[in-house]
Amino acid sequence: GQLPDLVIVGAGLFGLTIAERCAEELGLRVLILERRHHLGGNAYSERDPETNVEVHKYGAHLFHTSNERVWEYVNRFTSFTDYKHRVFGKYQGQVYSLPLNLALINQFFGRSHTPDEARALIAEQASEVATEDASNLEEKAISLIGRPLYEAFIKGYTAKQWQTDPTELSADIITRLPVRYTFQNGWFSDTYEGLPVDGYTAWLTRMSDHPNIEVRLETDFFAVADDYRGKVPIVYTGPVDEYFGNSEGRLSWRTVDLEESVVDTDDFQGTGVVNYNDQDVPWTRIIEFKHFHPEREKTHLPGKSVIVHEYSRFAEEGDEPYYPVNTADDRAKLLKYRELADAEPMVLFGGRLGTYKYLDMHMAIGSALSMYDNKLKPHFAEGVELK
Ligand code: FAD
Ligand code: NA
Repeated sequence: GQLPDLVIVGAGLFGLTIAERCAEELGLRVLILERRHHLGGNAYSERDPETNVEVHKYGAHLFHTSNERVWEYVNRFTSFTDYKHRVFGKYQGQVYSLPLNLALINQFFGRSHTPDEARALIAEQASEVATEDASNLEEKAISLIGRPLYEAFIKGYTAKQWQTDPTELSADIITRLPVRYTFQNGWFSDTYEGLPVDGYTAWLTRMSDHPNIEVRLETDFFAVADDYRGKVPIVYTGPVDEYFGNSEGRLSWRTVDLEESVVDTDDFQGTGVVNYNDQDVPWTRIIEFKHFHPEREKTHLPGKSVIVHEYSRFAEEGDEPYYPVNTADDRAKLLKYRELADAEPMVLFGGRLGTYKYLDMHMAIGSALSMYDNKLKPHFAEGVELK
């Protein structure tokens, strides 16, 4: 058949943003190829058929941004609830309010501290190690917050996230470990925050709802690449190493195993996210999805709740790549892939997989808007060469 004006590989937030802008503003005919059976990438969610609770299928997704342009843009497709994200952490039979804050410090050390007293206490404990002398993650963390808080709230959790003892992990995995000397326990500190009122999939479907946009699901780009490569501009948001046949070696990722279950209670844990800091508990977090939408309470099946236990590990072939590991070896490979990507004619690489970067949703959208402004619009509207 007739070639589209633009092919996009991947129907995640990056690809959908590019598609929407090119179809809506430039009138281009856009074809999106997506290998999964659904659009939305990792932000995809669906209602659990038994309980009617919305479940985020690739891990809990909370929208937040301080970027005015991104906020205005996303509000064209959905409105947001006033949900404010908070996280709690279990350790040795107690539940603490995270991130590290005055309530946690008071509870953990068993007495009240003024902000100044708490600051002095943590500074004294952190003086055990000088930050510039830290040679691994454990020493770095102790240098920032002291040993007691490190051992309770960082050590076990980090060991489970990385399946590696923190003394074996690089110091530069953490740059800062902020401690709030207030009772403010909102997880994000962005201007805007909330969940899409009628769910992620409704939002993401609306982005693609344009007569010039065709989404072809269950279609792997590599099975049809010869039809398009070198013939039309392509925006590729899949893994950059895979595009080049892993010629420079595979980039390493961490993945998360998500074990979903329906439990026989109205309320399993009283909040959306509880971290498990004890090292002998195998999961890192439990998510209870109904708490992300308290305004939907009457629509949820009474007496039941959907929870997910999360287990973190290194990704192997065939696993979902979630977080770049980013070793020195990975960074060296990435430089070579970037050179190959720059030299690949008529193909732009974007999104978290195409750039090997952890991107929050607002960052994926912001970066797609920049690619549209700086590359695609000049090309299609003014004939500037695509590179
Ligand atoms: P993706 O969403 O990964 O989309 C890429 C798409 O490309 C996928 O659908 C994939 O199937 C498709 N694809 C790949 N290769 C091919 C191919 N060869 N052919 C066809 N299709 C292909 N962000 C937040 O802002 N808040 C959060 O709370 C949050 N929580 C997260 C939790 C987890 C566990 C993870 C992993 C991410 C989280 N994020 C969160 C980040 C969010 O998921 C990303 O910002 C978003 O997914 C980026 O969109 P993307 O389009 O770049 O990539
Ligand atoms: Na220190």
